[in-house]
Amino acid sequence: MKIGGNTVLITGGATGIGLAMAGEFVKAGSEVIVCARTEEHLQEARARLPSLHTRRCDIAKEAEREALFAWAVTNFKDLNVLVNNAGIQRMIDFRKGTADLLRHRGEDGEDEIEVNLKALVYMTALFTPHLMTRKEAAIANISSGLAFHPMAPLPVYCATKAAVHTFSLALRQQLEGTPVKVFELIPPMVDTNLDKGARKARGQTYFGLTTAEFVIPAMKSFANDEYEIRVPDPKLAAMTGNRLGGP
Ligand SMILES: NC(=O)c1ccc[n+]([C@@H]2O[C@H](COP(=O)([O-])OP(=O)(O)OC[C@H]3O[C@@H](n4cnc5c(N)ncnc54)[C@H](OP(=O)(O)O)[C@@H]3O)[C@@H](O)[C@H]2O)c1
Repeated sequence: MKIGGNTVLITGGATGIGLAMAGEFVKAGSEVIVCARTEEHLQEARARLPSLHTRRCDIAKEAEREALFAWAVTNFKDLNVLVNNAGIQRMIDFRKGTADLLRHRGEDGEDEIEVNLKALVYMTALFTPHLMTRKEAAIANISSGLAFHPMAPLPVYCATKAAVHTFSLALRQQLEGTPVKVFELIPPMVDTNLDKGARKARGQTYFGLTTAEFVIPAMKSFANDEYEIRVPDPKLAAMTGNRLGGP
């Protein structure tokens, strides 16, 4: 799938991996829209990429994602790429019963299943009929290496990402023969604010690839129609006996 000449919507694209992808799409001549919940993140993203279109939206809220869809297809009729990138990551200790699950809901109102899985599935359902009307279109889902090698402190996160992988496989089969190509980007650890400082708190001293180290090769794979995109991290692979960060 070409990187230039598209109209791209990236959920959660105001920071981290999504913003780096936005930068590469813009550089290649695509029009890019990003959505996120935090107006400050959107403003900062616009300061870095002045051509960016931004929209405040919590994709975990049905009414907000439906409003986003209506606004996007009205104002950007050529929209042909949906990047399902928004995600959250929480440490949850099941030995505490429901305490940790409820703590996150109470503290920040966030639920990994709602954001990482349910919202991605519903965004896909909203946009697929529109994407099918385009000559060339793509859905790119961001899963994680942790879908394949789960990690004890992040059981729900890993499960949502494994589900995103399986969903992407089935969706790719279902959309075969339509103009919509289904990609899955499978990042290893990337140094962003996804973990909200938890890696450091766990005593980690290595925080993974930079966003550019992940996104630049990943976009090359996207351009080559590689539908499952992995970017190896030799340093992480060496640290984890090849369990994480391998090709
Ligand atoms: N960093 C890694 O090591 C790594 C590894 C594998 C996979 N991934 C995946 O890569 C994707 C991007 O993460 P990242 O590392 O770039 O972290 P990030 O910088 O925190 O990006 C996640 C973005 O999602 C947005 N978001 C969260 N909940 C949302 C919601 N309900 N509605 C709309 N936007 C929402 C956040 O913006 P607001 O808070 O402003 O809404 C944030 O900009 C995620 O799916 C993550 O799971 C990351």
